Amino acid sequence: MDQPSSSRPEEHVSIPDLTGVHPAWLPPGVFRAIGARRVLVLGDGPLTGTVRAEAEQACARHGGALEQDGTGSPDLVLALSAAAGQTPAARELLAGQGGSAVGEEGYLLARRDGVTVVLADDSAGLLYGLFHVVRLGEEAFTGERPAERHRPAARRRMLDHWDNIDVHPVMGQVERGYSGGSIFWRDGGPRGDLARVRAYARLLAATGVNAVTVNNVNVHATESRLLTDRLGDVAAIADEVRPYGIRVHLSVSFASPIRLGGLPTADPLDERVREWWARTTEQVYAAIPDFGGYVVKADSEGQPGPFAYGRSHADGANTLADALAPFGGVVHWRAFVYNHRQDWRDRSTDRARAAYDHFAPLDGRFRDNAILQVKHGPMDFQTREPVSPVIAAMPSTRLAVELQVTQEYTGQQRHVCYLAPMWKEVLGFGPWGADGRTVADVATGASGDGGGLVAVSNVGDDFYWTGHPLAQANLYAFGRLAWDPRLEPAALLDEWIDLTFAPAAGGDPGPLRRTLHALMDGSWRTYERYTAPLGVGFMVRPGHHYGPDVDGYEYTPWGTYHFADRDGAGVDRTRASGTGFTGQYPRPWSEVYESLGTCPDELLLFFHHVPYGHVLRDGATVIQHIYDTHFAGVEEVAESRRLWERADPGDPALHARVKELLDEQLRCAEEWRDQVNAYFFRRSGVPDARGRRIP
Ligand code: GCU
Repeated sequence: MDQPSSSRPEEHVSIPDLTGVHPAWLPPGVFRAIGARRVLVLGDGPLTGTVRAEAEQACARHGGALEQDGTGSPDLVLALSAAAGQTPAARELLAGQGGSAVGEEGYLLARRDGVTVVLADDSAGLLYGLFHVVRLGEEAFTGERPAERHRPAARRRMLDHWDNIDVHPVMGQVERGYSGGSIFWRDGGPRGDLARVRAYARLLAATGVNAVTVNNVNVHATESRLLTDRLGDVAAIADEVRPYGIRVHLSVSFASPIRLGGLPTADPLDERVREWWARTTEQVYAAIPDFGGYVVKADSEGQPGPFAYGRSHADGANTLADALAPFGGVVHWRAFVYNHRQDWRDRSTDRARAAYDHFAPLDGRFRDNAILQVKHGPMDFQTREPVSPVIAAMPSTRLAVELQVTQEYTGQQRHVCYLAPMWKEVLGFGPWGADGRTVADVATGASGDGGGLVAVSNVGDDFYWTGHPLAQANLYAFGRLAWDPRLEPAALLDEWIDLTFAPAAGGDPGPLRRTLHALMDGSWRTYERYTAPLGVGFMVRPGHHYGPDVDGYEYTPWGTYHFADRDGAGVDRTRASGTGFTGQYPRPWSEVYESLGTCPDELLLFFHHVPYGHVLRDGATVIQHIYDTHFAGVEEVAESRRLWERADPGDPALHARVKELLDEQLRCAEEWRDQVNAYFFRRSGVPDARGRRIP
């Protein structure tokens, strides 16, 4: 699991210098503080080469100088511990640590006697330390700074791209992508110019992400061949991202032995199948020695899987894990397994139960290098869901928690929806109540070797990377939270604002900062207010999932229902009278969610079917809450739009793009408000207590 880097010889690294694409959080100006100084880089290895190249470019731009050896008097030293002896500042910092290791991918940062020092045991740590200095800017070169030790909370910090090589007739090139085409693939093959991929890797490294999956979890025919005869395409991407400490992973089809190997079966316990995976994986590592591993969506939404052979998901995952183990690779096996062909008339089947029912009994049966990748909620990336009970149910399995940066159900990068506050709630949730352990603790593992955090990327070949320019903040915040889940969403937003906008604002984005906080801090809750109420979820247009359609999924096989009738709404998931889903939680949540008296209001309709007159904790009835929140949510969007009119991000084109998108957000929010309010008014016959117009 070492970083791809350290043992390889140093090579010249070219820093992507892109025109025609927005610089996101790395505009050249953020390197000014470093680039205006004398910088010394000590150590070997490709990522050290990257650090050196970054420093060199910054100095060339901003008038500083890269020192050649430790004999001068540098302002900034970036040193591997093995080379710390070459200059006094690094030597003293190392000695001050009593010789103890900094740790994998970690770094020490200190400033004494006018010298800022970054010290790392491996070159990945050095790179992360460099980006820390970039974030600090001038502050890194002011006053004294006692030694701080920084390490990632988890060693696995991954973004999954749901990208197809071919444009899929229904899903397009990027499944659930709202930012143009793929940055990896175009016209049925790899993009000719991979400079954007290198630039993407650089942006990700600056947040702390160290792995990407380059193709969709739904593996179609062409994409399945990336594992074999099109492996060279994957290797080309790996070459681009390696200098920034990023490993490439591949989504593979469980049926590959049949599709690609010509075998009559993909039974994971069949010796021929096991051999095929072993041989194929060996070839992958011959082409990409630092290959990360496989991602598998099996027996899910039509993808093939072990059930066809009467085998368990542990059998399936372990066969792939065994093939990867000799090379240090891992398989991310997704727990998103449910019946998507259920009968809506059948009230006993509950999609929320499915992942736990399938996987909890398998705890302890997965190999060490098999990571079970669990969506954060039991359904599917809704605006509001409880935390998945699987996260508390498998103490003997390595779990990764999967988030969705791409805004499938949260406004599709046409709406402002800063998701870090939601992720923070999820990561800080204590599945066992008050004993202190959190979802983040499960994902990171006791010593950082848990499954880590994974998210579905929101990036495409759009000029701003993410369609909506402000959606860049979600990508930034995910990487930073994967590095340290204790970071605060508002502080992360400040980091992103400073890096992205300060250089253009002459160093102080003050007024813009206030506007962006006003627009973004509460935007997830605003989105929640004008869409599906009280945790019930969905109510979206089937298929593309943009905009309201209250009954759109109500009579479909997808298992996503609200059961609204003339008396009330919500899904009874209690043990007493419903699907029993509440019983999948440990105490106290199994009790908290079971009882109407203690179930949090924001999840009320997720867990209970209640009459419209049910009174919430703030004294409002459910029906009045629906009306009030929908009117309020639209007002909040209108206010954002007013604020943005007066904002100056120092970039007229960006201003115009956000303005246009806020117009669309307001239109869509009004549509949500009117459809949801009208629907529930017509069902319930209860008028709005405040007499507002409901169409
Ligand atoms: C959602 C999404 C699909 C995706 C699936 C998954 O259902 O709508 O496009 O394939 O999640 O996570 O596998």
